[in-house]
Amino acid sequence: MDKFLIEGGHLLEGRITASGAKNAALPAMAASLLTDQSVTLRNIPRVRDIGTMRSLLDELGVDSSIKHEEHGNRLEIQARQLLNPVAPYELVKQMRASVLVLGPLVARFGHARVSLPGGCAIGARPINLHLKGLEALGASVRMDHGYVEVRTDGLRGTTFNFDTITVTGTENLMMAATLAEGSTILENAAREPEIEDLANLLNAMGASIEGAGTDTIRIHGVSSLHGAEHPIIPDRIEVGTFLVSVAMAGGHLVVDRAEVGQLTSVIAKLGEVGVKVRANGPHELEVEKDGTLCAVDISTQEYPGFPTDMQAQCMALMTQAEGASVITETIFENRFLHALELMRMGADITVEGRRAIVRGKTPLSGAKIQASDLRASASLVLAGLAAEGETVIDRVYHIDRGYERIEEKLNRVGARIRRFSD
Ligand code: EPU
Repeated sequence: MDKFLIEGGHLLEGRITASGAKNAALPAMAASLLTDQSVTLRNIPRVRDIGTMRSLLDELGVDSSIKHEEHGNRLEIQARQLLNPVAPYELVKQMRASVLVLGPLVARFGHARVSLPGGCAIGARPINLHLKGLEALGASVRMDHGYVEVRTDGLRGTTFNFDTITVTGTENLMMAATLAEGSTILENAAREPEIEDLANLLNAMGASIEGAGTDTIRIHGVSSLHGAEHPIIPDRIEVGTFLVSVAMAGGHLVVDRAEVGQLTSVIAKLGEVGVKVRANGPHELEVEKDGTLCAVDISTQEYPGFPTDMQAQCMALMTQAEGASVITETIFENRFLHALELMRMGADITVEGRRAIVRGKTPLSGAKIQASDLRASASLVLAGLAAEGETVIDRVYHIDRGYERIEEKLNRVGARIRRFSD
């Protein structure tokens, strides 16, 4: 199993490039199941979850091929036919986003059998709303030996209101509704940029979707979809992680291939902390740290609020800010596992339910620590950059799920991170 050895205390300086967004690429790959023609996706990040989704497509009997390009990979997928409508437990347990094949499979083939994902390190994460929505579209849902079996003889458009805002739930129903008879209105839909990106792909495939990016999405069903080529948007969470890396390690970075407009809440929060972030046009950010950081309160929200996927990184940052910060996690009930590891490095953090109080500034010292989920691992890498001495992070496969060779990217701008395995 790979580990990182991080030597702390080196300033970052230079230019760093964002990869494509994992959370936009995964639903786009699932969307390719909606047509028998070829779908080409560009700017696919080289991360482990993409490989897991390819294995799942392979399991379903779908062809895919990948080609290396200057910016990300080019992935061609053609779902000519379906050999097997089953997403097995072995793959779903590795990656919950496997559930994204449910909507497309039911819409195109009328049948899907997907393993229930079960609990996860950051919370219970049920899929009840995905299923309730598919039922509202006319599908029947049955639980059977840990699997959910969904069948239909044709989906019919409906109005569906989400009790809770859900990103993959919105994506699943949006994809399913593209091939339903008549129109579907999704209310209280998630507004994340990844949803807009998926709608752009689906519309390029011949779907008729309006309102993606707002809380009401209208989908006018069509009888079939066709092939398309689509570039995946840059990863806003990777960009945010790079911004915080400078705030922690010190120095100056230019981050290119960033979508500045999708990072408003993160940039504003970093500004309050005292980190200088400047936009050089719509696709480039410049970040610099000089002077003292001051503690701020953070509450995670659905987009366009402060992303839960940046909470762990900002908790690491708050250990280096003067004063007390209250961090409230409103999306997932158990997303503070990184706090315990940060405390082993010298952070002063109290966790009370969904709230963590970080008292700074405390010096961090290198220690042996363990990654627990993707964003928690990122926060530990950032802490390692700011720590005195050496930090060893175990289980970096968590970080490889969603960050493209983070150690190589950061090393190119001055970090000292070595990957090794036992
Ligand atoms: N929820 C339900 N019922 C459902 C679906 C969701 O109660 O049927 C609840 C969840 O338990 C959670 C809340 O709704 O409390 C929001 O969860 P959501 O469904 O939006 O999360 P997700 O779609 O499973 C995606 C990202 C996550 C990101 C969240 C929130 C992908 C593949 N994953 O997950 O990304 O944290 O939205 O923004 O898009 C990550 O990249 O590290 C990551 C975890």
